[in-house]
Amino acid sequence: MKPVLLIHPCDTEILARLHAASFADLWSAEWIARLMAQPGTYAYLAGGEAGGFVLARVAGDEAEILTLAVVPAARRRGVGTVLLQAAAERAHLMGAKTVFLEVAQANEAAKALYIRLGFTEIARRRGYYRDQSGNKGDAIILNVKLPLN
Ligand SMILES: CC(C)(COP(=O)(O)OP(=O)(O)OC[C@H]1O[C@@H](n2cnc3c(N)ncnc32)[C@H](O)[C@@H]1OP(=O)(O)O)[C@@H](O)C(=O)NCCC(=O)NCCS
Repeated sequence: MKPVLLIHPCDTEILARLHAASFADLWSAEWIARLMAQPGTYAYLAGGEAGGFVLARVAGDEAEILTLAVVPAARRRGVGTVLLQAAAERAHLMGAKTVFLEVAQANEAAKALYIRLGFTEIARRRGYYRDQSGNKGDAIILNVKLPLN
């Protein structure tokens, strides 16, 4: 599945719906459009509304994954992997030497995906997240050098 690059704030309704299918905190189409209007920010969409997207930003020699989401029905088919690889490849072309992201300690699926792509833990924010039951959990900061292996 080849991801489609979105540089300008278009198709943000689709991205907002994909985000809502994966996360409890809503990111509106307007909010995503505002993020995408910032310099160095881009998204990749794979599989349209039935797939997933990644939103990333490059600033200087660092890139950050702002969000990544694959709809539940399309998971474990490599969509998350191709999205992250595409985002990392573009970040490298834009001059980034490393990619950072943040993940909840409890998010086993995402952690497994990131570790498989070579990300390693560099820092931890204790008690940064609160789950739907109100329990606190750590946020883990991961990074990887570019290009990905
Ligand atoms: C995390 C997420 C993006 C992964 O997307 P995906 O398309 O299912 O990922 P892939 O199919 O590319 O998975 C690649 C590898 O990651 C690991 N992985 C992915 N999901 C996993 C799970 N539920 N449990 C264990 N390992 C998992 C596996 O090693 C997998 O390879 P395999 O299927 O050959 O075993 C998806 O689960 C999702 O959208 N989750 C909700 C939103 C989210 O948590 N986003 C990340 C926020 S930091």
